[in-house]
Amino acid sequence: MTVWDGAAYDALPLPHEQWGIRTIAALNLQPNETLLDAGCGTGRDAQLALEQLTYGALICVDQSSTMLDQCQSRFGQDARVRILEGDLDKALSVEAASVDAIMSVAALHWLADHNNVWRHFYAALKPGGRLATDCGGFGNLGKTLALVPQIDPNIKFPDWYYANVSNTEQLLKDAGFVDIQVSLRPHPTPLPDKETLATYLRTLVFREWNTDQIAKMSDLLTDNTLDYVRLEVRANKA
Ligand SMILES: C[S@@+](CC[C@H](N)C(=O)[O-])C[C@H]1O[C@@H](n2cnc3c(N)ncnc32)[C@H](O)[C@@H]1O
Repeated sequence: MTVWDGAAYDALPLPHEQWGIRTIAALNLQPNETLLDAGCGTGRDAQLALEQLTYGALICVDQSSTMLDQCQSRFGQDARVRILEGDLDKALSVEAASVDAIMSVAALHWLADHNNVWRHFYAALKPGGRLATDCGGFGNLGKTLALVPQIDPNIKFPDWYYANVSNTEQLLKDAGFVDIQVSLRPHPTPLPDKETLATYLRTLVFREWNTDQIAKMSDLLTDNTLDYVRLEVRANKA
């Protein structure tokens, strides 16, 4: 697993902020609720959500210790916050039916499939609990990834899983969720200049690549734009 650079990540202009705002808004959080942020990274979205959880609790889960270090320094000694290192492909380290809401932003496409994830989320939610997630969806970064063979046909990049709507709806249903809404939202994202684009690619997208490969991809992206497509999920536990 390539190491995430939490500080470089937080310094970038991230479209993730808008994805996080949309995801949190869908949950209609109440001040005394418990929220779990799955794949919390440095905790940027979690911090925003915590403003609504005046008497509540926040559980941040991620498998990257470097991202969690950044997350820990963001929250300091806030007694409402619990930070857990864990793999979302495995059962969550929380009591069954103990969480009011689960959010996830820009994380689930790192998992090879979503069958386990939805089942683990369902188990963690209380009856009536809500789920709102964002991740790369079918067609995400299609134009960007089509340029990769021009750099090197043998180059490696992570095997992201960009799920489609019908498969996701079926898995959510199989896991037991109701009130299921799944959609794909194109979100083309221009970066302000080549330097920011290169840092962005190195920090977020092609983290295994060398400087030369990153520079070539920056040049090939003539409009400095990443063609994101987001898979948005909203669902409830009955
Ligand atoms: C692009 S970052 C998004 C972080 C944060 N949600 C945000 O929007 O800024 C993706 C995060 O997913 C986490 N992640 C990827 N696969 C994971 C897994 N199997 N289990 C837990 N976390 C995972 C990574 O460690 C990383 O922190």
